Amino acid sequence: MSLLHEDLGASWRKARPRPAGRHLDSAACSRQSHRTLEAAAHHCRHEAELGGYVAEATADDLLQQGRSVIGGLAGMAAADVAFVESAQAALVALLTGWRLPAGARVACLPGEYAPNIAQLRTYGLRPEPMPVDGLGRVDLEDLERMLGADPPSFVHLTQIPSHRGLLQPAAEVATLCRAAGVPLVVDAAQSLGHADTDLGADVVYGTSRKWLAGPRGVGVLCVRPALAARLTPVLPERDDVPAMRAFESGRPTWPAGSGWSWPSASTSPAGRTACGSGWPRSAAPPASCWTASVAGRWWSRSTSRRRRRR
Ligand SMILES: Cc1ncc(COP(=O)(O)O)c(C=O)c1O
Repeated sequence: MSLLHEDLGASWRKARPRPAGRHLDSAACSRQSHRTLEAAAHHCRHEAELGGYVAEATADDLLQQGRSVIGGLAGMAAADVAFVESAQAALVALLTGWRLPAGARVACLPGEYAPNIAQLRTYGLRPEPMPVDGLGRVDLEDLERMLGADPPSFVHLTQIPSHRGLLQPAAEVATLCRAAGVPLVVDAAQSLGHADTDLGADVVYGTSRKWLAGPRGVGVLCVRPALAARLTPVLPERDDVPAMRAFESGRPTWPAGSGWSWPSASTSPAGRTACGSGWPRSAAPPASCWTASVAGRWWSRSTSRRRRRR
């Protein structure tokens, strides 16, 4: 098989520390680049030299660039993006702010990531299975019927699961949800930097350490303004900053956030489109690592099967 960018494997390896073994598990955690590691260390050093608040202020432009690029991947603006500690923290921040009544129904995949189901239940919500086909992909016709007949409070869709490389038809689900007036929340932990996440969803949340190869300890919550206006933060933000900033975690994420903003901010939109799937070329694993990893291998197999079928 010839790769679209033959040089990607070599430049990927050159950009990061030598691995102690063979790393095939970007679905759990990609290997960070020298630049990402240095940016996080640089911020920690700045904190020791300048104090936390001054160091945070000096990182402001970089973090804003990060919000802007991540927002772009989710089809949203920088103002719609909040940095949190992880994908789970993003879901918790969303549910805390949404304050849906106990017993509210949420349509989920039958094979949903178990901690997501546990979080929904913790907030008193009632997960209900979405119709799927034999492979576990959302059955769009049945979903349309379900949304029309008995709409849930929202649809929660994990675009690529952690246990198998199944790509859900998320853009089509977003179209159906929009037509039915049902908010769509997408767990993009395995798809951010791996598949197209500019879907027209109301919420996209994810984590930095997987396919974007960012640092541990930072996740992202992207919410469209119409839904953000319905969220109530625990502590409101000042009027002169974007409303989503109130959902941003406090100090602990800044070193990691500035580490993440390095790979994100150094990525040009041209780099994204060059790869054809919406993931930033310089930030995401190259095709060789990508296809070699467990989830990547499954995903590329199902893609090539689909191509063969066409
Ligand atoms: C589908 C999915 N959602 C959410 C998460 C949780 O991510 P985090 O550890 O950043 O909370 C994972 C992590 O493996 C995942 O695979």
